[in-house]
Amino acid sequence: MKNYRIGALGGDGIGPEVTEEGLKVLRAVADRSGFGVEVTDYPFGAEYHLQHKELIPDSAFSEMKDLDAILLGAIGDPRFEPGFLEFGIVGRLRFDLDLYVNLRPIKLYDESLCPLKGKKPEDLDILVVRENTEDAYRGRTIKEDDRVIQEMLYTRSGTERIIRYAYERARSRSRKKLTLVDKANAIRAHDLYRKTFVAVGEDYPDIEKDYAYIDAACMWLIKNPESFDTVVTTNMFGDILTDLGAAIQGGLGVAAGGNIHPGKVSVFEPIHGSAPKYKGQKKANPIATILAAGMLLDHLGEHGAAGEVEAAVIRVLPKLPSLGTDSGVSTDRIGDMVIEELTSP
Ligand code: IPM
Ligand code: MG
Repeated sequence: MKNYRIGALGGDGIGPEVTEEGLKVLRAVADRSGFGVEVTDYPFGAEYHLQHKELIPDSAFSEMKDLDAILLGAIGDPRFEPGFLEFGIVGRLRFDLDLYVNLRPIKLYDESLCPLKGKKPEDLDILVVRENTEDAYRGRTIKEDDRVIQEMLYTRSGTERIIRYAYERARSRSRKKLTLVDKANAIRAHDLYRKTFVAVGEDYPDIEKDYAYIDAACMWLIKNPESFDTVVTTNMFGDILTDLGAAIQGGLGVAAGGNIHPGKVSVFEPIHGSAPKYKGQKKANPIATILAAGMLLDHLGEHGAAGEVEAAVIRVLPKLPSLGTDSGVSTDRIGDMVIEELTSP
């Protein structure tokens, strides 16, 4: 029997409780599909740092490199300066494991979830491929007397690999369309994205190519979401665009993503934050984490099991009074409802 080694990093706030549900569904679908999951729990986050003055110990980090995948809950705690835990944990994983793809589907699972008028599931099925290791997230911050300079760093190889990955993804989808979202009209460095998109595109004559500046892309996402299929964009624009995407797919309660390096250990997480005020109350919605667990299965090549998780979630969504926190249905009950909807024997 195949056995996958999964790391669980629940993190802060509601992170641990939603992660528990993601793991519960993972184990249930594994049992039914005939593979095993062996989970190693990592207690890192705010509490761990307060006790041990450390974010991720090096020994744990090197152990993580040998796992098959990691399920991450949420990182962030108001007792720390913004960015300290986020960069120290999420950033460390993304950058030091070289997880250069941030894959974020924007999918409308049920018409009732969309705040836009008249949009149906077939109008909103977008795959955002966000670059995950460069941009302002990696440039230097230079502080001088009267100014602070923040670099946006892009490399040729980093730009090429994300664009190639996006073309491959576009090719595996039925519409065969890829839109580059950048701000080449104002940020001159984005010329690199334009040129690379065209050059790599020569290898993909079967893919329809389109361009949108980030400001216009935000507008089109609201007015005409059906104009997008696969989207490739820079790290920061991908961050912003996918929160907007989450809002139109039903909120952060259903938005999941994967931090991926093809063929290597990758990290799957809900897009939402740690919502510290709800910590430990079992009021958080674990659906996004459960969908992240589904994406994790897909990454491992367990496509059948991944599809089953997604299908079960689709059946549960209409039964929930709301998708926000405090919907009246507890975190663990929602996990059980998803398991009840798994169809394999
Ligand atoms: C995300 C988050 C992170 C990001 C933060 C926590 C640094 O917003 O995963 O989208 O900006 O990438
Ligand atoms: Mg974000």
